[in-house]
Amino acid sequence: MKNQFDYLVVGSGIAGLTFALKAAKTGTVAIVTKKDKLETNTNYAQGGIACVLAQDDSFDLHIKDTLESGDGLCHPEVVDLVVKTGPERVRELVKLGVAFNLETGANAFDLGREGGHSRNRILHAQDMTGRAVEKVLMAAAESEPNIAIFENHLVLDLIIQHQSMRAGAVDLYQQDTCRGAYVLDIAAGQIHTFVANAVLLCTGGAGKVYLYTSNPDVATGDGLAIAYRAGAKLANLEFVQFHPTCLYHPAAKNFLISEAVRGEGARLIDKRGRAFMEKYHPLKDLAFRDIVARAIDAEMKTSGDDCVFLDITHRDRHFLMKRFPNIYEKCLSLGIDITKDPIPVVPAAHYMCGGILTNCSARTTIDNLYAIGECACTGLHGANRLASNSLLEAMVFSHAAVVECAERLESWRNRVLPEVPDYSRKIAVENSSNSEMVMIAHNWDFIRRLMWNYVGIVRTDKRLALALTHILQIKMELKEHMPNIPLSSDLVELQGLALVAELIIRCAVQRKESRGLHFNVDHPEKGGSDWLKDTVVIKSAAEEFLSLPAVQND
Ligand code: SIN
Repeated sequence: MKNQFDYLVVGSGIAGLTFALKAAKTGTVAIVTKKDKLETNTNYAQGGIACVLAQDDSFDLHIKDTLESGDGLCHPEVVDLVVKTGPERVRELVKLGVAFNLETGANAFDLGREGGHSRNRILHAQDMTGRAVEKVLMAAAESEPNIAIFENHLVLDLIIQHQSMRAGAVDLYQQDTCRGAYVLDIAAGQIHTFVANAVLLCTGGAGKVYLYTSNPDVATGDGLAIAYRAGAKLANLEFVQFHPTCLYHPAAKNFLISEAVRGEGARLIDKRGRAFMEKYHPLKDLAFRDIVARAIDAEMKTSGDDCVFLDITHRDRHFLMKRFPNIYEKCLSLGIDITKDPIPVVPAAHYMCGGILTNCSARTTIDNLYAIGECACTGLHGANRLASNSLLEAMVFSHAAVVECAERLESWRNRVLPEVPDYSRKIAVENSSNSEMVMIAHNWDFIRRLMWNYVGIVRTDKRLALALTHILQIKMELKEHMPNIPLSSDLVELQGLALVAELIIRCAVQRKESRGLHFNVDHPEKGGSDWLKDTVVIKSAAEEFLSLPAVQND
């Protein structure tokens, strides 16, 4: 089956929905999402949206905090764009109906504080900001006639048209253009062709590449993998942000204790009740995230304890229940009353600061292919994202992409292009019984443990080298066996996960210094000005790739 749209949006979080809602004013939009349409990273974002709104705040201060957090690698023009146009994007959200918390009895927003921010500037809807935003955007998208939403549809690969101008044996000019994507309809077990004038990758993060993560199961880095395979440039994948405080409990899967809890005065303590952050940074519990995560890692390694604790018991019970209803309820359901008990926490993979390289219009290095949100590397975050800057970035870049696409739409529609071949066949789906499914489960687990142990918060040259050897071995195994395994979403995700893991390791190996989120004990200092550049990876012509099982036409 062939579907034709002006825009193909992959992912239904804040980036995809914001783009789709605006783009639908000019053209037709398909949103494809691999699970339920609300199962997105956005939906789980607790903290909020950083935005300059307070009297005592200024663009300069927000810019300064972002640059400081990014540790020399932010692109200043991008920081400027996001910080200065952010308030306009936030007003659009409020107009759509997102109800951010207001100060008691006042008409002003209740602005929270998170690590690295010098002012209170975090807009929030209690401790479920992402959910509040997602709900409003999704309702608007569902009532928009120009938007079609395809749930349980997983993108396998982009459709790329290659054009080159050659003089003799030399490529003078090469322009790759994205024409759409091949998409697996998971329930029907069929591959559909989506042809589009522009493709927007809004696929979120890759937290599942690590054993412990705050991310939901969908965060398998699919967008990064398909963009890389298509030939796009990716950058800065060594900068994986570990959130310092994920709930440590055997029954708690991926549950975050928002940094906003520290913003309201919570202190990190060890098992013996001793606060330890003053040893590590003058900002103590509200230091930048990389510093807090490394401090916890060091405390746990020194003491041998399984976790540290977050203590907010000094705050009023009613205040806590009102400000953090989600965290309060979740912890209580596990026997932890946050108004009386310190909360057991550990760091976990949270946010990918690198991603698919884009310009200020969200365009990647492949024409007509855009990347927005966590899967993109715009230059905003540098070596360490400032807390709550990401939803803001997604809105600003969705808007920028819409502006550019609207300008190009007419010429796109007038092009005469060759037909895109259609692929379609009945294929085995997830629940098919297959003896090799054990290989999928084993390698999923192996990669996540490997990344946690060898490519985690603190790295060494030796562990990185070992990790690369292991991951290449897994890729060889997959390459050999994949053609015999029925196509399923688990298999496709595993293929992507292995590739993303490899790219993270390759970036980490290249950066022989410690900066921001990348800390290598063999190179513990920040390098000189030579290191003030992005780590860029691109598929080389000689590189051999894993291929999906051969797809045959019916
Ligand atoms: C949090 O609530 O701590 C997460 C906020 C963020 O990652 O920006």
